[in-house]
Amino acid sequence: MFEIETRPVTTDKATLYAALAGDLRALLEHEHDLIANAANMASLIYHTLPGVNWAGFYFLKEGPPKEQPQHGELVLGPFQGKPACVRIAIGKGVCGTAAQRRVSVVVPDVDAFPGHIACDSVSRAELVVPIIQASRLLGVLDLDSPTPARFDDIDREGCETLVRIFVDSLAP
Ligand code: SME
Repeated sequence: MFEIETRPVTTDKATLYAALAGDLRALLEHEHDLIANAANMASLIYHTLPGVNWAGFYFLKEGPPKEQPQHGELVLGPFQGKPACVRIAIGKGVCGTAAQRRVSVVVPDVDAFPGHIACDSVSRAELVVPIIQASRLLGVLDLDSPTPARFDDIDREGCETLVRIFVDSLAP
């Protein structure tokens, strides 16, 4: 059984993310399965980062072969937190925006983000990181917080590192 270490609440953010990255590498080290690794990663983030009420994945499901990849949609994957909306169109909400632009999106105030999709009404801030493997969009990692402006550049960089570790874990 993998034990999530309890760390002092005073640990600064960068140190916390460095430790989290080490924990994630250890957790995913011997497994390549996308669902299993996404599930464990969502749990690790949810139980390690303070002030997070939802952490999880949306994966890109492409349409029938004739359709363009961008006509696919994001479909809910493994997560921790309250039940969430299942399908998000590319370009819609914070998740669909990050997927379309292929860049991380930090939202300090979800009410000020046009088209934000509210899954849990207590969520006030959001961070979405696209998951890209060899130029192919796999989906997004989504974090919600009840604290306004909870996520900053340190969170973005920290979560981008976590996503790279996740993508690397998928290669056999
Ligand atoms: N708020 C997201 C939807 C997903 S939930 O937050 C889990 C969005 O606007 O895309």
